[in-house]
Amino acid sequence: MDRFPILFLVATLITLASGARHDILRLPSEASRFFKAPANADQNDEGTRWAVLVAGSNGYWNYRHQSDVCHAYQLLRKGGVKEENIVVFMYDDIAFNEENPRPGVIINSPHGNDVYKGVPKDYVGEDVTVDNFFAAILGNKSALTGGSGKVVDSGPNDHIFIYYSDHGGPGVLGMPTNPYMYASDLIEVLKKKHASGTYKSLVFYLEACESGSIFEGLLPEGLNIYATTASNAEESSWGTYCPGEYPSPPPEYETCLGDLYSVAWMEDSDIHNLRTETLHQQYDLVKERTMNGNSIYGSHVMQYGDIGLSKNNLVLYLGTNPANDNFTFVHKNSLVPPSKAVNQRDADLIHFWDKFRKAPVGSSRKAAAEKEILEAMSHRMHIDDNMKLIGKLLFGIEKGPELLSSVRPAGQPLVDDWDCLKTLVRTFETHCGSLSQYGMKHMRSFANFCNAGIRKEQMAEASAQACVSIPASSWSSLHRGFSA
Ligand SMILES: *[C@@H]1O[C@H](CO)[C@@H](O)[C@H](O)[C@H]1NC(C)=O
Ligand SMILES: *[C@@H]1O[C@H](CO)[C@@H](O)[C@H](O)[C@H]1NC(C)=O
Repeated sequence: MDRFPILFLVATLITLASGARHDILRLPSEASRFFKAPANADQNDEGTRWAVLVAGSNGYWNYRHQSDVCHAYQLLRKGGVKEENIVVFMYDDIAFNEENPRPGVIINSPHGNDVYKGVPKDYVGEDVTVDNFFAAILGNKSALTGGSGKVVDSGPNDHIFIYYSDHGGPGVLGMPTNPYMYASDLIEVLKKKHASGTYKSLVFYLEACESGSIFEGLLPEGLNIYATTASNAEESSWGTYCPGEYPSPPPEYETCLGDLYSVAWMEDSDIHNLRTETLHQQYDLVKERTMNGNSIYGSHVMQYGDIGLSKNNLVLYLGTNPANDNFTFVHKNSLVPPSKAVNQRDADLIHFWDKFRKAPVGSSRKAAAEKEILEAMSHRMHIDDNMKLIGKLLFGIEKGPELLSSVRPAGQPLVDDWDCLKTLVRTFETHCGSLSQYGMKHMRSFANFCNAGIRKEQMAEASAQACVSIPASSWSSLHRGFSA
């Protein structure tokens, strides 16, 4: 078989890696409002700590998201948070995946211990849905479908911690099932939770590409919610401990073990006395580590919502491991920054490529890996090319490309009409096939179409013209329904 797809992949990876990073953005939420909000003087521990942990992906090439979530679970348990108060969403196809070199074990760092053992299977497989996640946050058991039935049954003095790790795109977060989670729906749920008076404060840690866009211009102050995100609204977030990096995973692992922002907050929490470390101190440290020496392999950690809450000590949300009582916070990243990191969106290719590279010449494994690479690449080209073409069909050769990528000023939400956004996504998918995890990167273009007044009928016509047929690959398949 000829090597064309492989050469093409390599060329593409080089192009991606050399793309210049955005200038440093100073969004409004970055302004020093830190001391303005009232201090939470009492810092009492009376309320119950609750946590919801979500890995939004499946597939071995996404190993790291479930690994992150398992690590978070162990961290909370060591901190004294009870199992009955931690709701876990993970597809659970990693530990016993045929690609996993250590069956039944998941690690989150090169020398890390197993983080899988003991993780409760609250919502696994097809029960990892947006609706179940929302029901769990709201404590609404009657809205659940499947799963263990565990929800955040919190009261007014309680503290809630939500951590999510996966792929995303502007205004959207992935799920292993369709549909994906849209920012507007998530914000509505948070507002509803606040209105129900069933928490004192809530902290949201979010890892995904363009994760800033989930809260930017959308999360109001006054809900007693403090959120930090792995990236700003217009850049990718990064996988880490990937094959070919230093530190690299053990050689038998052909996949990234963690994500840059996620391991930064967890490895910091693992070793400190969280009674003395504040959310703000952790934010600073994680921001610095995730920036990765301002190299192209890093992103800008952001904070949103009630920034004043970041004066709280981490113990309010994460508990603290008594073994760390003598390790107070020092503002210094004790961990070596990685030599490089892998763009979340390319981590699947890294997996297929590493698999291809290591497989014996002529083996069926090598052929399978080559097919996987080819399918992933042709899906990307199909989506990218047709989005470009649709832009031109709708706005002309000159204006089309510009409109696809234009970014609203900081502080504004991605789109005004979220129903329009979802409608246009469904219309595109009807003619062109599923966006899949990679296609989420184009959400800003759909949003810009809506902001420019494009209606469903126009989108349908342009999509039908651009996409003559839906490719047969699994990435394009609509058998799981629309992503919106
Ligand atoms: C709980 O969910 C059900 C089903 O979706 C809904 O009818 C009900 O209004 C919800 N209850 C609350 C308190 O939100
Ligand atoms: C912390 O230090 C004190 C005083 O040296 C010691 O008694 C205690 O055992 C240490 N705690 C831990 C958890 O190591």
